[in-house]
Amino acid sequence: ARPFIVAIDGPAGAGKSTVSKVLARRLGFALVDTGAIYRSVALKARREGLAFDDDEKLGELLSRVHISFQVEGEDNHVFLDGEDVSGEIRTPENSMAASQVSSRPVVRAGLLSLQRRLALQAPKGAILEGRDIGTVVFPDADAKFFLEADPSTRARRRFEELFQKGVERSLEEVLADQIKRDQDDASRAVAPLKPAEDAVRLDSTIMPLSEVVRVLEQTILERM
Ligand code: C5P
Repeated sequence: ARPFIVAIDGPAGAGKSTVSKVLARRLGFALVDTGAIYRSVALKARREGLAFDDDEKLGELLSRVHISFQVEGEDNHVFLDGEDVSGEIRTPENSMAASQVSSRPVVRAGLLSLQRRLALQAPKGAILEGRDIGTVVFPDADAKFFLEADPSTRARRRFEELFQKGVERSLEEVLADQIKRDQDDASRAVAPLKPAEDAVRLDSTIMPLSEVVRVLEQTILERM
């Protein structure tokens, strides 16, 4: 039988990463951070000086890119062509680039099999977090969730995260970037950000993330 597949989608800063990490650890599931995959492709495109709408060059880049994950202690590290880029992919510049690169159909199609393979090779189950897991990557996932929160709450979380990493960015700038990225992600032609019809929707504006984890874990255990 195939592993148990959990889809966690939602906008930036809704708490997907934190929740997915805790859940994966508690359930002994693999964690596939699909945003990190798009971010890694964006970083490679930036390093090579590609225009983010050059489909031909992006397609060629995808044919030779190698992305993998490795859990080290509490952290899930991302490797781009063998190099640990976990920190570098999360700068504000690279976030915006990831959003642009991910709007190209050639990029989305080219990364589908990688996302599915990383999940299906897990021995027990896999948690995939992203924007289109429940709608495109695994429409037949065993459990689907869509996490939301007020824009200002999400921006504050992202601001705190960047601050702790030493990235100097005002709350206003973080909010402006987030609004742009949300709009682009929700309005793109291919695989826009939207909840799957059969997704369980949770708003973490006032619900602590520990409570979100509890609800998700209970739902998953009931279906296993
Ligand atoms: O989740 P994260 O903020 O790391 O994702 C970075 C960007 O990658 C998003 O803004 C989105 O444009 C893109 N993305 C996507 N589909 C996914 C995951 C991420 O388009 N499944």
